[in-house]
Amino acid sequence: VITKIKARQILDSRGIPTVEVDLFTNKGMFRASVPSGDTTGMYEAVDLRDGDKGKFLGNSVTRAVKNINEKISEALIGMDPTLQSQIDHAMIDLDKTEKKGELGANAILAVSIAACKAGAAEKEVPLYKHIADISGETNLTLPVPAFTLISGGKHAGNHLAIQEIMILPIGASRFEEALQMGSETYHHLKAVITEKYGAHECNVGEDGGFAPNISSLKEGLDLLKEAIGRTGYNDRIKIAIDVAASDFCIGTKYDLEKKVPNKSEQNFKSAEDMIEMYKELCSEYPIVSIEDPFDKEDWEHVKHFYSLGICQVVGDDLLMSNPKRIQRAIQESTCNAVLLKVNQIGTVTEAIEVVRQAKEANMGVVTSHRCGETEDSFISDLSVGLATGQIKAGAPCRGERLAKYNQLLRIEEELGDQAAYAGQDWKVSS
Ligand code: PGA
Ligand code: ZN
Repeated sequence: VITKIKARQILDSRGIPTVEVDLFTNKGMFRASVPSGDTTGMYEAVDLRDGDKGKFLGNSVTRAVKNINEKISEALIGMDPTLQSQIDHAMIDLDKTEKKGELGANAILAVSIAACKAGAAEKEVPLYKHIADISGETNLTLPVPAFTLISGGKHAGNHLAIQEIMILPIGASRFEEALQMGSETYHHLKAVITEKYGAHECNVGEDGGFAPNISSLKEGLDLLKEAIGRTGYNDRIKIAIDVAASDFCIGTKYDLEKKVPNKSEQNFKSAEDMIEMYKELCSEYPIVSIEDPFDKEDWEHVKHFYSLGICQVVGDDLLMSNPKRIQRAIQESTCNAVLLKVNQIGTVTEAIEVVRQAKEANMGVVTSHRCGETEDSFISDLSVGLATGQIKAGAPCRGERLAKYNQLLRIEEELGDQAAYAGQDWKVSS
């Protein structure tokens, strides 16, 4: 049973406070911490911050920590950690609000994850196995990683409006090989950027991708194409993009030069222009997935673009991991993949439900990190246990990103022959 819960404030990879919790049972101590993102939408669970400008510029989380140490702790002590759904619902009931604003989704999720780890230990099974058990998934699958190699948008100080250019090593035979392919491409890219622009352009963005001062997506794709060429992996590596178009949407237009200073003229694109651009780029480069191609409220153009059948279309800001928005996307055939950010929902149980909802509708699921991460690697076990087929956890570089990828290496090693790498079946793995 749960005997004690103790939370504290720690710092995430950006140096911004977040919540960590130690949950104790007779089997030991189980620790979890939660990430947070740069984009927070109206429909996602509340990341509770103190708002005291004198402390961490308003970002301290002492209220969330106190909620765990007092209210949540009082409600959960004595409960069986294997009963994930009961634990999560006890917290949801205690909070009483739709978006977990009373206790804070950051407080609730940290405890939910720690309890999940404790539940696995109670059953003496690996975490991914426990997650598979409670969700009813039977095909443990190592996901295809989406490595962010070039960063832009809100995640970097360069002129690139688009947030991420990623690679998917779908032609690897195992996750281990996928990680090697990612690492090699990353280092070749570093050399390509250095040769072309100089070593001072090799700085990285928040999730570890290089952030050279390019201003167009095409320039980034050319750099990447050159790097992939040097690896010799060729078409075993595909490309994915997170446009995060809401960041540079102005009314009904898109300003791809939003971050370029001292422009002589404005060069806005209409949604139709954007569709033409995507079509062109997808025919010229091996792009297999585009996330948030339009503004988060522009369902019509996402749907239109998806109907062209050019590539996987992922809803992140569009869906916000919110079951109601996912339902709408299913009904209206808006896109065919969900970006799963567990902290936008707030409990492990609800994350499992979102994956079930997406899979029942034949949608792909990309388990995702946030730009502000910790060394917690829970999402790795989650992606294997729920067989999501895809995981996005940043560059194959920086400790908080590698925490996820290295954990996947360990899981693959432990599973041995039973480990299936999603590979070519990355879109819907079971
Ligand atoms: P965020 O970005 O964590 O800053 O929201 C991640 C993403 O857009 O995929
Ligand atoms: Zn995104």
